[in-house]
Amino acid sequence: MKKNCLVRSLFLLLLLGSSLFGMAQSAIVIHADQPGAKIDKAIYGHFAEHLGHCIYGGIYVGENSDIPNIKGFRSDVVGALKDLSVPLIRWPGGCFADTYHWKDGIGPKSERPSIINVHWGGVTENNSFGTHEFLDFCELIGADAYVNLNVGSGTVREAAEWVEYVTSSNESPMTALRKKNGREKPWNVKYWAVGNETWGCGGNMRPEYYADIFRQYSTFLRAPGMYKIASGANTEDYKWTEVMMREAAWMMNGISIHYYTVPFSWQKKGSATDFDEAVWFNTMQKTLKMDTLVTKHSAIMDQYDPKKKVGLLVDEWGCWYDVEPGTNPGFLYQQSTMRDALVAGINLNIFNNHADRVRMSNIAQMINVLQSVILTKDKEMVLTPTYYVFKLYKVHQDATLLPLEIKCRQYTLGSQALDAVSGSASIKDGVVSITLCNLDPNKSQQISFDLRGFKLSKVSGKVVTSEKINSYNDFGKKEMVTLSELKNVKISNGQVEAQLPSKSVVLIQLQ
Ligand code: AHR
Repeated sequence: MKKNCLVRSLFLLLLLGSSLFGMAQSAIVIHADQPGAKIDKAIYGHFAEHLGHCIYGGIYVGENSDIPNIKGFRSDVVGALKDLSVPLIRWPGGCFADTYHWKDGIGPKSERPSIINVHWGGVTENNSFGTHEFLDFCELIGADAYVNLNVGSGTVREAAEWVEYVTSSNESPMTALRKKNGREKPWNVKYWAVGNETWGCGGNMRPEYYADIFRQYSTFLRAPGMYKIASGANTEDYKWTEVMMREAAWMMNGISIHYYTVPFSWQKKGSATDFDEAVWFNTMQKTLKMDTLVTKHSAIMDQYDPKKKVGLLVDEWGCWYDVEPGTNPGFLYQQSTMRDALVAGINLNIFNNHADRVRMSNIAQMINVLQSVILTKDKEMVLTPTYYVFKLYKVHQDATLLPLEIKCRQYTLGSQALDAVSGSASIKDGVVSITLCNLDPNKSQQISFDLRGFKLSKVSGKVVTSEKINSYNDFGKKEMVTLSELKNVKISNGQVEAQLPSKSVVLIQLQ
């Protein structure tokens, strides 16, 4: 009894001591002896919409541009995305998808009609980036394609013909048209969505009505190995998931949800770069809501699909702030700071930990829109803090999830508190990878790891961190947030110990 008291007192003293020095103690148990689901690489997917400068200026500049390019695709962007091992890109929207008529974007560019991008700034869309350009771009960077069909203003025939044009190897008017446009062989496109946000910009439908529409479209969409995706709920619209699963689960492979991290409200989103710790805290709190959403939507799905055949796909997520001053409000252009790196790390940990049901996620959006991994300005390119988090986390793609128990300190601000550490772990090719986020912007975390069922011989670590909570990378300036080696990680008495800097995202690998 006395001995126990002494041990406890010593531990408390240690905690007090480390806390006084701005360091907190955490313990993590990793169950390498209880491997879980496969983490689908599609969880590391991206979203690219015809919105602002995501496509034009971001991905595509045209072959005649003086910006170095490969068949019109920016060479710098191609290189950066290849380094990220981007597994999947969703296109052409978003809200744009339900205004997009795919035949406008094929054939000679000079003959393609221009349209108005009604959702995003009312600008002219000249359709020079269409089906061939998108699918060629995916092939170039080695990503799978995910095409979002037009339900809101399209027809079943238009959708079915698009699928046939892209995927069929038979003879038909659509495949003849494809060949005439220069593509002999079909593309291998697995993922197809039937509309986007059909509860809103995709048609303002009720779930009962859309369930029937989804069943109708699905009946006529045919391609080998096709993965059919139903337009899913907005945030906590659990009724939507309930109705869709009840009425149409048997015809779908996946259903989406969309959730954006908005620090305050849609009316008051706040600046991307000018914020204080209260806003930081609030952003962390808002983004952690993703875990509740995924858990609750999954629980509804479990009732109709206990074998988890249908995937829950978070095909839009990320931070949404006020646009950068002086930019077109319809272009949703925002900077990205260390705060966004934490948001990315936390969400990717959540998706990994729900890999039994979450089979895809698509950060919104890949370039120059909302929480981007890349920003471009004319010839210049910036890699954002979010880019470096995706680079750290790519080790989880198609790895096997390992259960993780985290006992950590709280990150407190005033009377509010959050768990300071978020994490997930996986194993691939005999290497255990643990990704951790320290949400606390003031205190580092001293972590001890208890690795069960794994023979440890080597440890290494990498970190994304910065000096300030709102540090960011800007054009023509030295990078303020980047990836570096994690120094304070070691094996001591057969146990791994590491120190996570304050406001950091870390990868620790064990062999
Ligand atoms: O990502 C921006 C927009 O957000 C998408 O077009 C839409 O689906 C969502 O509301």
